[in-house]
Amino acid sequence: MLNTVSTPGDTGWFVRDRFGLFIHWGLYSLAARHEWVKSKEQMTDEDYQKYFDHFDPDLYDPARWADAAAGAGMKYFVVTTKHHEGFCLWDSKLTDYKATNTPCGRDLLTPMVEAFRNAGLRVGFYHSLIDWHHPQYHIDPYNHPLRDRTDREKLNETRDQSKYAEYLNGQVRELLTEFGKVDILWTDFSFQQDRPEGKGRDAWNSDELYKLIRTLQNDIVLNDRLDLDEGWDIKTPEQFQPLEWVRVNGKPVVWEACQTLSGSWGYHRDENSWRSVDELVRTLIDAVSKGGNLVLNVGPTGRGEFDQRAMASLEGIGKWMKRHARSIYGCTQAPEDFKTPRDCRLTYNPDTRRAYVHIFAWPYKHLHLDGFAGKVAYAQLLHDASEVGLQMDAWHADQAGGQVNENALTLVLPQPKPDTVVPVIELFLK
Ligand code: GLC
Repeated sequence: MLNTVSTPGDTGWFVRDRFGLFIHWGLYSLAARHEWVKSKEQMTDEDYQKYFDHFDPDLYDPARWADAAAGAGMKYFVVTTKHHEGFCLWDSKLTDYKATNTPCGRDLLTPMVEAFRNAGLRVGFYHSLIDWHHPQYHIDPYNHPLRDRTDREKLNETRDQSKYAEYLNGQVRELLTEFGKVDILWTDFSFQQDRPEGKGRDAWNSDELYKLIRTLQNDIVLNDRLDLDEGWDIKTPEQFQPLEWVRVNGKPVVWEACQTLSGSWGYHRDENSWRSVDELVRTLIDAVSKGGNLVLNVGPTGRGEFDQRAMASLEGIGKWMKRHARSIYGCTQAPEDFKTPRDCRLTYNPDTRRAYVHIFAWPYKHLHLDGFAGKVAYAQLLHDASEVGLQMDAWHADQAGGQVNENALTLVLPQPKPDTVVPVIELFLK
């Protein structure tokens, strides 16, 4: 078990809850082909206006979303209050580019926050630093939809990025004062890295923004994309699973993988790269086994629903979580004396002193656990609390004429694999 670097936000609950829902919802849901569609297809504001004019999520019922998330075992949610397209889900006083001015005609964020809170989930806001709609936002040559315009420099003459930064700061103030306690702020993203016209801390006025955030909501869990060396609480690996506990300057930190059900964050009608429930459950287990969290994304439709594919994924995860949540909540990486067997992931709950062996590929009768000899009082399959037999590895190795490992304990497993996506053995340590 590792102690993480201490940071200003309250991550105590975060590292116990482990599993959250990401929601990417905006005008791009109507284009239904990725939330970056405005940039990818280099659309002008006029090209994009049709989505604003037709945004009418008439089936939106946030209580259903919250139920679906709670049913999957998720403990918090993070919603795009504004994504890179610049469109705002709430009734911001600082812009007209918001849900209230579309055919939808109402603030979508307030009822969402309320519904998720009622379902017992904590509240997180994703807020885009990037803004491809704001008239003062400097047109960079990297990802802005107008990047290839020959008159780009001329267009930039009338743009004052510091005014945009004021707007950004003002909106963050609204978000952190008008919705009660916000547990997570997820800013996205800086792209400075040695690029002459990239955007980082100066483009957002991150120092001031940071002070504002801590003044308004001191405890908030803040992510790491403001381009500040210090002050963030979590690292956010995206679209890959780290091979081990994430470290910064050699020290373990609190981290959260953000992953999608398919390739896109925003609703994508024609995408076929949907992950199986099996893969999603393994991803969650994998994160916790390395001391991390998982926030898993759904892109609701333009009608305001989680589509059938997303619902099936959440339901499948929920079915597993119903019987296995004990190996996820309050759990972390196991102490290093306990070796992870091949094709398995270990998690450990330091309060109950139980270890969990998640078996990704079901073995024949015996599973050897190196480092567990003499340390286990009782073992059971977690989903049905059925006893699992224990033998000293010395005994088994002797039978097989193999090498004796005095540190190993052997589990005697039923055959065939139990009918659950990832079976888990719960070990009660002495
Ligand atoms: C990226 C993308 C974005 C998505 C985010 C989630 O930074 O720009 O579309 O919102 O990742 O982590």
